[in-house]
Amino acid sequence: MKKDILILGIETSCDETSVAVVKNGREVLSNVISSQIEIHKRFGGVVPEVASRNHIMAIDSVLAEALEEAKVGLNDIDAIAVTYGAGLIGALMVGVSFAKTLAYALNKPLIAVNHIQGHIAANYLGTELKPPFTALVISGGHTAIIDVKNYVKFKMLGNTLDDAIGEAFDKVARVLGLNYPGGPEIDKLAKQGKPIYDFSFKNNLKDELNSSYSGLKTSVINFVHSKEQKGESFEKANVAASFQKIATEMIVQKAVAFCAKSRAKRLVIAGGVSANSQIRAVAEKLCRQENIQLFIPKLAVCTDNAAMIASQGYYNFINKKGLSGPNLAPKSRI
Ligand code: KG4
Ligand code: ZN
Repeated sequence: MKKDILILGIETSCDETSVAVVKNGREVLSNVISSQIEIHKRFGGVVPEVASRNHIMAIDSVLAEALEEAKVGLNDIDAIAVTYGAGLIGALMVGVSFAKTLAYALNKPLIAVNHIQGHIAANYLGTELKPPFTALVISGGHTAIIDVKNYVKFKMLGNTLDDAIGEAFDKVARVLGLNYPGGPEIDKLAKQGKPIYDFSFKNNLKDELNSSYSGLKTSVINFVHSKEQKGESFEKANVAASFQKIATEMIVQKAVAFCAKSRAKRLVIAGGVSANSQIRAVAEKLCRQENIQLFIPKLAVCTDNAAMIASQGYYNFINKKGLSGPNLAPKSRI
């Protein structure tokens, strides 16, 4: 009988300290996430130095909790997978150093995982999804359309040219005086509003796979500032609903149209913004119309977590990709 493979995943690329144990790339035995949201809220965004320090303080106990919940010891682990980029360099450094030390002390393989590939792998957790497929990664740092050829071969088809979609959600939320992170706040507020505003901006990229959200973001910010300067009142909920509607259509239509044109049968959405209720609903509707099978992760694994890193780590491990050692260095961009 084939032996089960247990991967310990470690994720510290932004403001969540997370450690997970995943069996055979699919079954989550534990996925402990210590979020720093409350700490960064008062600054209106993530402060990199503060994030690094809090990762250092949290990581030991997050590891202990992850092992306890999975009911395994460090000796039962087959390999250690860690996010090495992209992300905040100081924050990544904590996870990478921790993983390197564990791997060295336990004499276990160390596996480097690309954060975006990890987000895509969130769709493998508890499912039977297998590549090839087209992936749409929408997060705080990415708005990317990727051809996933197999578990370890990826081709970037379209990327973020300026602001990523999550960044636009966060900045629009900030101008509306909402809390950090803004995405979930806009999502909530939009439900109480109507999309009555047509923010005018040039969307030159309608017909290509790259994306830009800075035009839409600036248009909303200018609208709010101009209303405030003129002392005119407006419903924040209507601004949230109008922004979210355009932000959703811009990327979901693009991804679904690409799948239809290239006869791709499956669209896999990933990244923190895939938690958005309107994005999920519109993607479901458009994919149904085009007869495309849609995969979106469960809400709990849309945003940053270590189970997705362990899952991609498993596929890297069995395909002998990303095998790393003491020289592994974190990278802010990859
Ligand atoms: O994937 P993620 O946790 O971190 C990055 O890799 O960037 O994504 C974080 C982003 C933030 O911009 C956050 O506002 C956004 O995901 N987000 C959402 C929602 N939940 C999280 N955006 C829109 N609607 C949501 N429900
Ligand atoms: Zn992420």
